[in-house]
Amino acid sequence: MDLKMILVVVFFFLICPVNIIGLWWAVGSPLVLDPTRICRKTRRLRGKQAEICQNEPEVVREVAKGAQIGTVECQFQFRHRRWNCSTSRRSFGKVLMQDIRETAFLNAITAAGVTFAVTQACSAGHLLQCTCDRSIKGISTDGDWEWGGCGDNIDFGYKKSREFMDARDKKGSDVKTLILLHNNEAGRIAVKNYMRTECKCHGLSGSCTLKTCWRKLPIFRDVGDRLKEKFDGAAKVMAGNDGLSIIPVGATIKPPAKDDLIYSEDSPDFCEPNKKVGSLGTHGRECNHTSQGVGGCELLCCSRGYEKLQQNITENCRCRFIWCCEVVCDTCAVLKTIFRCL
Ligand SMILES: *[C@@H]1O[C@H](CO)[C@@H](O)[C@H](O)[C@H]1NC(C)=O
Ligand SMILES: *[C@@H]1O[C@H](CO)[C@@H](O)[C@H](O)[C@H]1NC(C)=O
Ligand SMILES: *[C@@H]1O[C@H](CO)[C@@H](O)[C@H](O)[C@H]1NC(C)=O
Repeated sequence: MDLKMILVVVFFFLICPVNIIGLWWAVGSPLVLDPTRICRKTRRLRGKQAEICQNEPEVVREVAKGAQIGTVECQFQFRHRRWNCSTSRRSFGKVLMQDIRETAFLNAITAAGVTFAVTQACSAGHLLQCTCDRSIKGISTDGDWEWGGCGDNIDFGYKKSREFMDARDKKGSDVKTLILLHNNEAGRIAVKNYMRTECKCHGLSGSCTLKTCWRKLPIFRDVGDRLKEKFDGAAKVMAGNDGLSIIPVGATIKPPAKDDLIYSEDSPDFCEPNKKVGSLGTHGRECNHTSQGVGGCELLCCSRGYEKLQQNITENCRCRFIWCCEVVCDTCAVLKTIFRCL
């Protein structure tokens, strides 16, 4: 069973049901937190993955959480696009089975999410195998501050994400596998290479006579933004002559860097529903009639045209602060004009 199958299983059996019953955000729900579920559904796993499933169920729980963080970010980044990262049964697995740009983004953001979640879990003390990181010591290069405190343990998160996501049969070293491994790594790098430095001042009334700093995870939205840029500039590749390497398509194109996303098949246009490629089509999607960009009605609706609708929605209004400490709002009905693809 290869990684794509596992991801499909993770999403369909672990996340989709949760999504469908409207508990997407319910972190305490037993479905999300049931650590054995991924491993139960993928019993034929071998090697490192089986080991983690067997011996580190709490890591598996973070892997599941990371996959979810990745999906939520994917849906944010693609909310205005024809392919909107829908986890629908008709779409998600099909997209993962291909080797298009969208597959590259999904694999990268998932690997990034897992790296992020496991690292966060170390700092939160949720894992026995790791703690936050006190290994960096000494004075900063500019001499202004000292390493101290307890930083986010990115090395552990990176390692576990790699062990779990990249685990596979050695035999399967085809082009698709090379691409998958490359994109997984690009996702992990989008977290690891962008660690921030957070500092705290010590001294009388915050005078900052001593400043200590530690490493902190990037904001995941920034990770998503970065990978979305890589999606836009993704490089098309094909198998090299030896069949063991990948080379860029087009003689003049420079080889992709480690942090670039790569793919080997062109994306469908996602305009019409198409079971084979996992396209849901864009009929009925809300579009922006003033935008010329991807979320604009022209592009999103694939030039089919769109309709104008009035929607009666209720929202909070006349909110006021009541001393102390409450905010009270009324609900108002507002008529909103929206545009929808035909
Ligand atoms: C994504 O698109 C599908 C159809 O194209 C639509 O049914 C669904 O509501 C969209 N999801 C979001 C989150 O906009
Ligand atoms: C529609 O697109 C325009 C131009 O890109 C933008 O300024 C505006 O905020 C968008 N409106 C909505 C509702 O997203
Ligand atoms: C909108 O809905 C509210 C109640 O939800 C109702 O009182 C109001 O008459 C509606 N307005 C229109 C224009 O349909």
